[in-house]
Amino acid sequence: MPKFEVIRYPHSILRKSCSLVERIDEDVVRIAREMAETMYRDQGVGLAAPQVGISKQLIVVDVGEGLITLINPEITIVEGKDKMEEGCLCLPGITVDVERNACAQVKGVDLDGKPVSFDAEGMLARCFQHEIDHLSGKLIIDRVSKIKRDLALKQYKKLTETE
Ligand code: NI
Repeated sequence: MPKFEVIRYPHSILRKSCSLVERIDEDVVRIAREMAETMYRDQGVGLAAPQVGISKQLIVVDVGEGLITLINPEITIVEGKDKMEEGCLCLPGITVDVERNACAQVKGVDLDGKPVSFDAEGMLARCFQHEIDHLSGKLIIDRVSKIKRDLALKQYKKLTETE
């Protein structure tokens, strides 16, 4: 069973910029595995390390096409625009319409330290952008207008108070 609990907004770790993973050791491999387990348990399609309290550039993604684990991911090329409803495990219960690039080329390294590159579109492109946002402390509420953000946070506050 995964030992991680997903950290919720407004925890300050969610706002920090994550450091690069310098060395892929046993710890990194274990963290990645437990992050994937946590993502599946909580029925997410992606998870970034800061969401489980680890301020490192590490993400896991599975939009139904298999698990992708990426270390030090970067968006290298983007194309097009697309708007879609998004949620986040750190902000349970709320969704907002987020505009993102429709296509994104993402580079990083896998758990073997091998460079990998993805030319993503659709859900995968969106999910990569969402998770990579987490690595610089950015959340879905930062990607919408102030009015929509205030509304979403009001709703979120109400939900967390009644829990
Ligand atoms: Ni998220």
